[in-house]
Amino acid sequence: MNIVKPVPFKIPSSIITGVNSVNDNLLDQVKGFGARRALIVSDQALVKTGYVDELKSFLKDIETAVYTNIEPEPSIENMEETLVWCDAQKFDVVIGLGGGSVMDSAKMLAALLAHDGHVRDYVGGSKVFGKFGAPTIMIPTTSGTGAEVTVNVVFKDKAAKLKRVAVSQYLMPNVAIVDPLYTMTVPAGVTAATGMDALTHAIEAYTAMKANPITDIFAEDAILRIGRSIRTAVTSGGNVEARLDMSLGSLFGGIANAGASVGAVHALSYPLCGEFNLSHGVGNALMLPYVAAFNMMGNIKKYARVAALLGEVVDGQSDRDAAESAVKSIKRLSEDIGIPLHMNKFGITAEVLPRWAKTVMDTQARLLNNNPRQLNEKDVLEIYEAAL
Ligand SMILES: [Fe+2]
Repeated sequence: MNIVKPVPFKIPSSIITGVNSVNDNLLDQVKGFGARRALIVSDQALVKTGYVDELKSFLKDIETAVYTNIEPEPSIENMEETLVWCDAQKFDVVIGLGGGSVMDSAKMLAALLAHDGHVRDYVGGSKVFGKFGAPTIMIPTTSGTGAEVTVNVVFKDKAAKLKRVAVSQYLMPNVAIVDPLYTMTVPAGVTAATGMDALTHAIEAYTAMKANPITDIFAEDAILRIGRSIRTAVTSGGNVEARLDMSLGSLFGGIANAGASVGAVHALSYPLCGEFNLSHGVGNALMLPYVAAFNMMGNIKKYARVAALLGEVVDGQSDRDAAESAVKSIKRLSEDIGIPLHMNKFGITAEVLPRWAKTVMDTQARLLNNNPRQLNEKDVLEIYEAAL
């Protein structure tokens, strides 16, 4: 727990949740900004579901344009194209309808409508500053990234073969509308992967060095909801209650992440996602139990609580035993929702691991410093070997 240096806690000015919350609130929110011309940023897959047309129909007398040329993991080049398309037009509100990639693109696009220069100029910490861009409304269509409540935007830098992050309070969405009805058609595999990303946000933020009483409230509730509902959401995608739990779990995990940030799970998953094209959620799911097993000595009470929140019976157990139950519980959860427990299932072999351990130590200091237990290169390698 950080009791020495308080961490600023930021969230959108409006968060609206619940079944039908988009239908009931979108037009009012757009009108609340005095907007006459709205841009919906989305992708082709969501056009096919009919969600984009549905949004347009809710906006009635608002002039609405749609931009869907967003890559699955948007590159800086992709963002530049999007910006060129939008720059000539006058939008007074930007609506992001999609997963993390779409919402991140919408956030950056809205900010850059008020700033000159190129996307690359704004990558890094607090490079977007001084003024807000167009107001933003985020509508997530997966339960995972929490991008509707974070100040981060993640890009692929094709030239450098790296992921780059822009972080700024001016990237925080103005409104998040979290409606489980927009997640009902997500396939089982994506529900599992994105759900494990959300669980990872919650567990990492809960046990992080920057964890604080505000983020703990959100992290605990996220772990509880995801733990009790992810199996149902994966196996019975039409179950609205499970989808609602997952969408709130993702939202709360995102809020905890925005306030306390994440740690070694995210740090260690980057190389395997980058080189083996695993989704962010699967990469995190692969790392989560092994990092938790290493980390639990750094915050044993919190890991013991994670076990209880995940539904393990821990009455009468020592914190040490309960913390071990958390690790077992996470493994069982992954198996139950069809995510392998070992990296070799994806063709990853031992010879890449020393290089990855070095890369993590060289490039992920920010996340590693927030981890509840400090790691050296040997520790990272041993975690990778355990996960292999
Ligand atoms: Fe994540």
